[in-house]
Amino acid sequence: MRIVQSINNEWFYTPNFAEEYIQQNTLDRNVFQPIRLPHTNIELPYNYFDDAAFQFVSCYKKELYIPKEYEDKIIYLDFEGVMTYGKVYLNGEFIGEHKGGYTPFSVNITEKVILEQKNMLTVVVDSTEREEIPPFGGVIDYLTFGGIYREVSMRVVEKVFIHDVFIKTPQVLEDKKTIQLEVSLTKEGYQQEPFTLISILKQEGKEIQQKTQTIQDTCITMIMDQLENISLWDIENPVLYEIELQLYHGDQKLDQVTQKFGFREAVFKTDGFYLNGRKVKLIGLNRHQAYPYVGYAMPKRAQQKDADILKKELGLNMVRTSHYPQSRHFLDRCDEIGLLVFEEIPGWQHIGGEEWQKQVLQDVEKMITRDRNHPSIVIWGVRINESMDHHELYSQTNALARKLDPTRQTGGVRYLQKSDFLEDVYTMNDFAHKGDNIGLRDQKEVTGLDHYVPYMVTEYNGHMYPTKKFDQEERVMEHALRHARVQNASHVDDHIAGAIGWCAFDYNTHSDFGSGDKICYHGVMDMYRLPKFASYVYQSQKSPEQEVILEPATYWSRGDRSIGGVIPLVILTNCDSIDFYYGGQYQGRYYPNKEDFPGLPHPPVIIDKLDGHWGSRWEEANFIGYVQDQEVIRKEYSHNPIPTELQVTADDSILCAREMDVTRVVVKALDQCGNPMVFMTDPISITVEGAGQLIGPHYRSLIGGSIAFWVQTTGDKGNIQIQVASERFATQEITVKVE
Ligand code: GAL
Repeated sequence: MRIVQSINNEWFYTPNFAEEYIQQNTLDRNVFQPIRLPHTNIELPYNYFDDAAFQFVSCYKKELYIPKEYEDKIIYLDFEGVMTYGKVYLNGEFIGEHKGGYTPFSVNITEKVILEQKNMLTVVVDSTEREEIPPFGGVIDYLTFGGIYREVSMRVVEKVFIHDVFIKTPQVLEDKKTIQLEVSLTKEGYQQEPFTLISILKQEGKEIQQKTQTIQDTCITMIMDQLENISLWDIENPVLYEIELQLYHGDQKLDQVTQKFGFREAVFKTDGFYLNGRKVKLIGLNRHQAYPYVGYAMPKRAQQKDADILKKELGLNMVRTSHYPQSRHFLDRCDEIGLLVFEEIPGWQHIGGEEWQKQVLQDVEKMITRDRNHPSIVIWGVRINESMDHHELYSQTNALARKLDPTRQTGGVRYLQKSDFLEDVYTMNDFAHKGDNIGLRDQKEVTGLDHYVPYMVTEYNGHMYPTKKFDQEERVMEHALRHARVQNASHVDDHIAGAIGWCAFDYNTHSDFGSGDKICYHGVMDMYRLPKFASYVYQSQKSPEQEVILEPATYWSRGDRSIGGVIPLVILTNCDSIDFYYGGQYQGRYYPNKEDFPGLPHPPVIIDKLDGHWGSRWEEANFIGYVQDQEVIRKEYSHNPIPTELQVTADDSILCAREMDVTRVVVKALDQCGNPMVFMTDPISITVEGAGQLIGPHYRSLIGGSIAFWVQTTGDKGNIQIQVASERFATQEITVKVE
């Protein structure tokens, strides 16, 4: 029977490499330091660092003890992500390698293992930007970081085992449902056929139907049909099922695997995107998988949290995994919460030579075979993001994608007009909007075709209007309005399936991009996932039953804007109407601006008049929001904000000791009305004691009145005590449990 054991603890690491390390079967503790996975090859500062600092060759070691019971078994090590080129050795002998930091690989160590003894595993990790590996060879607007940054596990199987299962759900909208399973076996040794395969459909562990089939071959199709009372997977109600597969040889059970999936139909048509026959306007943002200090190396909980932020906090229904396949934990979470995904292969504008292009095809294959059971994924990106047309290469990537997964449409992200349309969906980065013009172009103008095709916008804004969380009020407001205008343009055009903005979170980048400090400030949230006003454009599109949003895009001051004042006052809200008081004086009732934003479910309220001038007194403001004439929310702004509270909150109260776990702690300076003090830069000092450790520096300044930090577990159980001290506020203490 299959045993899968995660092996993320007790690794040893050195940030350099010498040939002799490969042969060393004992650990030189002067060279190698203990670490856990996920791991970054170097911790970087928040900004202003050398963007080549992570580009070096490093070495990881781990002792593996293989018990005698595994004698006749096949043993694999499964690596989920090693940036960028990993070479694996066991007991000094080479056993396998992999190029490409975003796709998984496995090595078979069976032949080289010594039983009942310690085996030394060595992984040499080349994190330089090797030009034969995508996305490298040109410049790229993001950092790829380095190290064994995703999880590793050991998989022990019999000589014949289940290699893969692809679960299809044809004609899913019919009453009685059908499942078509494409199962493949791997035979690492001889065993006489036939085998028996049992497949069990389950929901939350409860059996629904079972089927047994005899197999003579290593590939088999199995049908389970006449399934009744099956719920569809949807963005509102993402119901998941499982298939448990059991493989027998006579009476001997050889293998068992469980695969989650969902019943759903997703199709892009010329007049929009349809999920289970219902038209859904796609509202999304692009996500880079990077975090401050540790780059890509964040464990499950942080990956899940990002999906939660996108779906629950921002209210999106779609994300694009720009510009590469992302962590399985992120995708699993998208399945669980109903967040649609556009997943694409690694690359950025540049197309390399022959070897490079071979790697592209391998990336397509690895991405699709890893991820084709995720109901959340509704389209494959099979072009290098924003590359030129390349008929030969993209004919191949499309053909391969359609062969590996005939159930999903392909896209390929471009900025080209009239480009060679080999995909099923024309996916376009449309940066047309400049603030005072159209939001998006007409698709026929873009495609140059005389007929409509399935069409989606995959990026807008971004470099057109970089904005920091603490930029001047006019800018942060205009940043928000640009997001609102483009989303509105998408909503009023039936021939646009939806629009995915650039981007969710600020990210570290190369010196060829960004603000010179190695950050691209293109997010609607900062690198800590803290909101800019633009994020409320998205948040306010949620229904008020889900969450009432009333967020005036203002710091409420007389003089931050040019010439002073706060007009036009843009209020991002899902309320039906708003009462506004200035200095206690009722100014009127205001309504969503349906004239300028007819497509948005919840247009902003815009107030364009307020008496007062430079030199007159500045007064407090009050906003009262109503939904169906019921008061649902109040907001107050002082004319004289006073530092009142340093709010410190952890995303999670309980973490897990078994493997590396993290939680984010958010620190906000608030005034007497509970509003953020946007220009506060006071330093804070962070102390973490007990069963946890701080990621990043202990001393920091607030950035735009707030900041966050991540705390990781150490492997011990107990409490983590977190203390945040500052000059102007009382010291705050919180505790997180580790179980
Ligand atoms: C696009 C690119 C993104 C990002 C963005 C900034 O051209 O695909 O990766 O650089 O521009 O707006």
